[in-house]
Amino acid sequence: MIELEQRQFQSPGYYIRAASKRFEAEGAARLRHRVFVEEQGIFPTHDRDEIDLIATHLVALSTYAHEADQVVGTVRIHEESPGLWWGSRLAVDSDFRAVGRLGAELIRLAVCTANARDCARFLAHVQMQNVPLFRRLRWSPLEQVTIHGTPHMRMQADLAHYPPCTDPVAGWYHRPTRREARR
Ligand SMILES: CC(C)(COP(=O)(O)OP(=O)(O)OC[C@H]1O[C@@H](n2cnc3c(N)ncnc32)[C@H](O)[C@@H]1OP(=O)(O)O)[C@@H](O)C(=O)NCCC(=O)NCCS
Repeated sequence: MIELEQRQFQSPGYYIRAASKRFEAEGAARLRHRVFVEEQGIFPTHDRDEIDLIATHLVALSTYAHEADQVVGTVRIHEESPGLWWGSRLAVDSDFRAVGRLGAELIRLAVCTANARDCARFLAHVQMQNVPLFRRLRWSPLEQVTIHGTPHMRMQADLAHYPPCTDPVAGWYHRPTRREARR
């Protein structure tokens, strides 16, 4: 109960939107470093690459008195070739996982944003432990592959489940239900 109250105090809701401000981009970069370099050790020194230069970066922001506060989740999307979109570097701060469906909300904004930009296929290489999460979000497994020395599943989103989002910078405000916050 105390943990629930602390989490609800931490943030009653979250902005899910495309990063358009410097603190959002910097917060997303720091979060990715914490998760993919320090926590998972997938990259020894940094996780930046050339896709960062062309990608649209999406963030989940905690709020304080209804103002955006910290970047607590991120994902990026990019178009590899006409109609073929990829999502990558999905990360939620460890203190905010399974709190408010932030991973699911970021995936939703990612695919809905691409769907408004003439996306024909949306793919991601998903770490094996996260395959059940993506399956529940209407993604299908295609093929197992090894990336950065780690097994991943290439998965494809069911675009019919993700209506186009034409204004990702506005995004939306997500208020977790009590049931979500309780888990
Ligand atoms: C994967 C990750 C982004 C999920 O974020 P999250 O905010 O905790 O996930 P959500 O709360 O949105 O989860 C949505 C649902 O999937 C479930 N779920 C979350 N992670 C899961 C997993 N690994 N396996 C099975 N189910 C999972 C949640 O319990 C929730 O259940 P519900 O549908 O019954 O409500 C987060 O755990 C993370 O950052 N992990 C470390 C980095 C990482 O693995 N990145 C992904 C690379 S593919």
